[in-house]
Amino acid sequence: MKNTKRVDCDILIVGGGMAGCGAAYEARYWGRKLKIVLVEKAHIERSGAVAMGLSAINCYMGMRWNENTPEDFVRYVRGDLMGLVREDLVFDIARHVDSTVHLFEEWGLPIIYDQKTGHYKREGRWQILIHGESYKPIVAEAAQKSVSEVYNRVMVTHLLLDAKKRNRIAGAVGFGVRDGDFYVFRAKAVIVAAGGATHIFRPRSVGEGAGRTWYAPWNNGSAYALLIEAGAEMTQMENRLVVTRFKDGYGPVGAWFLALKAVARNAYGEEYEKKYVEEQRALYGNYVDAKPFPTCLRNDAMLREIKAGRHPIYMHTEEVLDTKEKEELGWEDFLDMTMSQSIVWASQNIDPKKRPSELMMSEPYIMGSHATCSGAWASGPQDIAPKDYFWGYNRMTTIEGLFGAGDTIGGSAHKFSSGSFTEGRLAAKAAVKYVLDHPEMPEIDEAQVYELKNKVFQPLENYEVGRNQIVSGTVSPSFIYPNQGVIRLEKIMDEYAGGWGSLYTTNEHLLNRGLELLLMLKEDLHRLAAQNFHQLQRAWELHHRVLTAEAVIRHTMFRKETRWPGYYYRADYPKLDDQNWHVFVNSRYENGEWRIFTRPVYHIVPW
Ligand code: FAD
Ligand code: ADX
Repeated sequence: MKNTKRVDCDILIVGGGMAGCGAAYEARYWGRKLKIVLVEKAHIERSGAVAMGLSAINCYMGMRWNENTPEDFVRYVRGDLMGLVREDLVFDIARHVDSTVHLFEEWGLPIIYDQKTGHYKREGRWQILIHGESYKPIVAEAAQKSVSEVYNRVMVTHLLLDAKKRNRIAGAVGFGVRDGDFYVFRAKAVIVAAGGATHIFRPRSVGEGAGRTWYAPWNNGSAYALLIEAGAEMTQMENRLVVTRFKDGYGPVGAWFLALKAVARNAYGEEYEKKYVEEQRALYGNYVDAKPFPTCLRNDAMLREIKAGRHPIYMHTEEVLDTKEKEELGWEDFLDMTMSQSIVWASQNIDPKKRPSELMMSEPYIMGSHATCSGAWASGPQDIAPKDYFWGYNRMTTIEGLFGAGDTIGGSAHKFSSGSFTEGRLAAKAAVKYVLDHPEMPEIDEAQVYELKNKVFQPLENYEVGRNQIVSGTVSPSFIYPNQGVIRLEKIMDEYAGGWGSLYTTNEHLLNRGLELLLMLKEDLHRLAAQNFHQLQRAWELHHRVLTAEAVIRHTMFRKETRWPGYYYRADYPKLDDQNWHVFVNSRYENGEWRIFTRPVYHIVPW
């Protein structure tokens, strides 16, 4: 048996990415005397989606220069998400996000200024440009200074509920991914900030490029699976994100479209983005009039071109890199944030000043922070949340004392890095209040901890026992490796739940069959085998991915319309249906059973 280490604290933060760092900083501000512990499966200094750095901050209002108001931002996000967002949550981030960005600048993040206006230089209406290679270490330093202890390289596998009080959080368990120690964290409040999910759907990069995705490959859906297993209510799990990217390297497009004003055209040199507006209006209604044109509809237009065989679609970089400054901006965009794209340029002899680059739509990701809003159903802020959306503490899930931020929280898109950090701050402020209001330490069920310890290390045991049956290679009659499991998952999701391989299209029959196959995979998970602690981490990442995928399929089945074309299509319900589906689809997983239901969408900002 491995060593068991016990850690008691007031507030436990799971995940030290953008939202986790924001939570750490703010928890210390309000809870000077509290014991605040952060647990991170990688190393906080370079963990999460911002590990490589970023070249822009995509959520900044600029209220000190009267550039935008929070109401404007709500309209933008609502329009982009085809009408369905939690406006209270979006508004709450908008009114606080500028102060977060000002903190980043104070801590040393170089933000680029516009020499003419003296304001931050805009990439687009909501985005500002940064020299952001070191964004994550800068933000992590503030978090590290704020918390009582950081446990790096510890993966959280399960949350713990109070032994006496139903529906109240008590802590979490996990294991050291380097040393295999078992950790039992007991906490009065827990904030989950464990990032979104990639490798649920088969990526376009397979074989030699395996593992490459746009969103971080190590974001494996813990944010959703931990909560789902604990019985928290989830929302919008069907609202997966598909993004247009530079082909193969997955380089982002924002700086090119918005700052450099590059244009995308089909193989025949035609601009196509607005070509299908009237067809789109007939299917999806007046959402086509939103400004800017919604992300999913831009995808939809591109997909129509691809289906008609008018691709490759090209981003015409060669038309815009006409000054040294612009050329530097173009290269820095990728060198700061997605080095793989510059490597594709170098390796394929593409000089962006001379040749356009191919664009392609990504595989779907599950996230709560980009142009999408999957995640936990959370209480909003007291002053603006409609009464159905408020139950005592901002960003508290439906489990008492369990909070979330960033990709974890559903219903509020376009947070990006700065909004995720801001949401971490909002959650932490409320968590401190919760701890002060509920100072008693929860009680842990020791029998459950014992059971979980056995379960967590089972894959090591499976390997030890089953390895002798392998004649050669990696195929065993009694176990599967995590990598084999993830490939099986990706194939199921791609072919049945609307991945790129099926042109993002699914229907009830496909979903039913996909679910059947997914449940068989789920059954096999107790046969996962790990040769070492690294593979043990992969095994638990797969567990979390599979549960997240199940939520995606069940939500997709429930919503009988096509709300976000370009993200996915229900071929059996090809239209957007506002009369019946202007609602959130929510779910709860209790005692192995799923309950799927709807919640109302309230509009609090005038259209
Ligand atoms: P993350 O920052 O990903 O943090 C999650 C953390 O949880 C990670 O540190 C992870 O290791 C940890 N974790 C996960 N599971 C566990 C577990 N089980 N136990 C313990 N720890 C765990 N945003 C912008 O503002 N501007 C941009 O230009 C921009 N460009 C982007 C470009 C790329 C290539 C990518 C990948 C993202 C980009 N984003 C951008 C988006 C931004 O990075 C995310 O919105 C933001 O990081 C989400 O914050 P988060 O805290 O929810 O997740
Ligand atoms: S990033 O997260 O990897 O940087 P991306 O490059 O797609 O994402 O987008 C950066 C920002 O620009 C986001 O706020 C996105 O919504 C916005 N954006 C990207 N392309 C467009 C476009 N064609 N029109 C309007 N906004 C866009």
